Amino acid sequence: MSVHKETKRITTHTLQEMKDRGEKIAMLTAYDFSMATIVDDAGMDVILVGDSASNVMAGHETTLPITLDQMIYHASSVVRAAKRALVVVDLPFGSYQGNSKEALNSAIRIMKESGAHAVKLEGGAEVKESIERIVNAGIPVMGHLGLTPQSIYKFGTYTVRAKEEAEAQKLKEDVLVLQEAGCFSIVLEKIPAQLAKVVTESLRIPTIGIGAGPSCNGQVLVVNDMIGLTKGFRPRFLRQYLDLYTEINGAIQSYIKDVKAVDFPNEKEQY
Ligand code: KIV
Repeated sequence: MSVHKETKRITTHTLQEMKDRGEKIAMLTAYDFSMATIVDDAGMDVILVGDSASNVMAGHETTLPITLDQMIYHASSVVRAAKRALVVVDLPFGSYQGNSKEALNSAIRIMKESGAHAVKLEGGAEVKESIERIVNAGIPVMGHLGLTPQSIYKFGTYTVRAKEEAEAQKLKEDVLVLQEAGCFSIVLEKIPAQLAKVVTESLRIPTIGIGAGPSCNGQVLVVNDMIGLTKGFRPRFLRQYLDLYTEINGAIQSYIKDVKAVDFPNEKEQY
């Protein structure tokens, strides 16, 4: 029997209860109906329609080019597949940094046009007003601190953040600001494991880590990376469960060989 027949929809309240009873939260990205169906059927707690779609789906170098319309397209495909998981959608670069009204309008478009359950945005104290405004409109918000890829041109590199005391201190303050502003959870990306532990213990709400060690209340990975679809991407934090690039490449080479040899289609594969 599939998981979603036994289990009710995961909500932001479920995630809080999971943190409170010490149960870890599993989150994975998905960007299309087929993959989201597999991820949801496997029993995922949260599906993130990440703006990493810009990299893994569209082939851009950064997350910056993806648009709000494109995020809504990906999100609505995922929502149609997800029967159990909470679906969280990234507000893309340029759709919320202007002011809190713009942020609210973008969040409303995502909720209305995709049917998703929550939005995620990057940043600390500087996005507090936007978070408050979105939460006040009844839309759950997930925060995102540490390595925030929409700021890659400010950082200059994708290396671990908050190794220096000043940045670690700012992060410790920012998580409390986001919690106070009403975030139901915060993603911590690529920060030292010890800092993630301290920060997680300072919060009431759950943290979800990516490259942030085992003390976070949950973990998230980009699905294409963890199943080995992304060619040549092997950062230290990534556990690759499959090598699908090699598997699929082999299958496609076999198909090409069969077509060329007039071995496909055979008698059983024709009418
Ligand atoms: O866009 C994304 O996939 C993300 C995760 C890496 C947390 O934000």
